[in-house]
Amino acid sequence: MPAVSTDLEKVLLDAPAIQRRVAELGAQISRDYEGKELVLVGILKGSAVFMADLMRSITLDCSIDFMCVSSYAGRGSTGEVRVLLDLRESAEGKDLLLVEDIVDTGLTLHHLTDLLRTRGPRSVEICCFLDKPDCRKIPVKAKYVGFPIPNEFVVGYGLDYEERYRNLPYVGVLKSGK
Ligand code: IMP
Repeated sequence: MPAVSTDLEKVLLDAPAIQRRVAELGAQISRDYEGKELVLVGILKGSAVFMADLMRSITLDCSIDFMCVSSYAGRGSTGEVRVLLDLRESAEGKDLLLVEDIVDTGLTLHHLTDLLRTRGPRSVEICCFLDKPDCRKIPVKAKYVGFPIPNEFVVGYGLDYEERYRNLPYVGVLKSGK
């Protein structure tokens, strides 16, 4: 396992705690989606690590798909999202479960769920690894949340700062000035 990055102020969630929680989420999803047409939709790139662990802790027959979106939220716009990579399979009649790294302002998932609901799925729900409830600008309710966290910028377990730190197997808070 990589050493704790010296760029971090502190480790917020260590690897064993993450693995335990992901196993719990997988078990809960497996119970809730029994008999349904579950499609896990990973939102790239941040969800890649979470998605890989979560899907292996789900014991149901399910399929996976991916989307990649870019958000304009940080640039003072309306928070519209631009779809860079769309689903390969039809969403019609499916039970879509969006798998996201973190919900912050909520803008990305608000727009994405609105978009996907126009495509005739049976259901659209959200499973996020991390949730920063204090940062919401628009209401978004995730059905499954790995960990609620305070308003701090975190990296690791798929989450990046300028494309770095995604491969850390734990989640930490970056030192300021990094
Ligand atoms: P939202 O539209 O503000 O909810 O944005 C969610 C996206 O912002 C996530 O998918 C992340 O890519 C990014 N993000 C928000 N907070 C953090 C953080 O603390 N670390 C890394 N990325 C973050």
